[in-house]
Amino acid sequence: MTRTPVTVTVTGAAGQIGYALLFRIASGALLGPDVPVRLRLLEIPQAVKAAEGTAMELDDCAFPLLSGVDIFDDATKAFAGTNVALLVGARPRTKGMERGDLLEANGGIFKPQGEAINAGAADDVKVLVVGNPANTNALIAQQHAPDVPAERFTAMTRLDHNRAIAQVAKKAGVAVTDIKKLTIWGNHSATQYPDLFHAEIAGKNAAETVNDRDWLENDFIPTVAKRGAAIIEARGASSAASAASAAIDHVHTWVNGTADGDWTSMAVVSDGSYGVPEGLISSFPVTTKDGKWEIVQGLEIDEFSRGRIDASVAELAEERDAVRKLGLI
Ligand code: NAD
Ligand code: LMR
Repeated sequence: MTRTPVTVTVTGAAGQIGYALLFRIASGALLGPDVPVRLRLLEIPQAVKAAEGTAMELDDCAFPLLSGVDIFDDATKAFAGTNVALLVGARPRTKGMERGDLLEANGGIFKPQGEAINAGAADDVKVLVVGNPANTNALIAQQHAPDVPAERFTAMTRLDHNRAIAQVAKKAGVAVTDIKKLTIWGNHSATQYPDLFHAEIAGKNAAETVNDRDWLENDFIPTVAKRGAAIIEARGASSAASAASAAIDHVHTWVNGTADGDWTSMAVVSDGSYGVPEGLISSFPVTTKDGKWEIVQGLEIDEFSRGRIDASVAELAEERDAVRKLGLI
């Protein structure tokens, strides 16, 4: 039986993440090896030609699962009927910029895109915001899509999650697959809190197994939290292939479910869990099943973790207040 293609809209399709992302979506990595996809690409008018070039290359791959590619410079058309919306298009920060510097420049993009999703996306639409500042951009889009359930808007902290797993695996000398229950809390920014106290290495508590508090506080946490800046410094451009890979992981896990005995990190609309004010889009430990996510409940939060989570959440509240002042929500 031939399945109906799933419509996936990607914004910023001509950008560097777009270039790393589209070919993996078309190959089946996003939704599964038996799910055909139809791509709708959104770009600003000046970049439509470049997006057309990428579409030519997509044709040239003859991907069996790719049922078509359409390119738009109009958000309403690009999101019409979309099942999965990947909001990547935004200006990346360059050397010396903090993500907060992007609030005004990029916030303006997400209001019309939220409205367009509200107007015409499919009833089951799932939205992942990658463009920075991702959590607050997701909040802006969500606030302008009142007819779409709020839980369908998420922001990406999976890259931070994957970065943290790689660092712990290296420190412990184990495979990345031995690391479970890692959590990124808060904002996708330098205040984020990668939590090893609830994580496991080969079934045992990760913080106890590593048993190196100095490394945990002064190496692991800052290395993960400042990795984006380190990549910009080294590459002269912000992370692209790893960001695209994390976006694939985020949606794949959301649609296909987390494994038993594990969870992932997603920035989702807070229901007040763990003292995070309701409505903020903050990263939590999350399990997924049947296309729905749930925040993992009941974790004990000690004083150290409390302070770290509160600091990142305070930054999210500041960002929300700033975009409110700018009239974006
Ligand atoms: P890029 O500059 O290479 O590409 C961005 C693309 O977006 C450009 O082609 C641009 O024309 C397009 N664009 C701009 N405004 C648009 C709009 N209104 N509608 C549609 N397209 C639009 O940037 P990139 O390296 O691909 O990064 C994209 C974003 O992702 C940046 O904000 C970056 O900071 C962010 N990012 C987030 C994470 C994360 O973990 N959440 C990781 C890496 C990068
Ligand atoms: C990243 O984490 O690599 C991206 O968000 C880019 C950045 O500005 O840090």
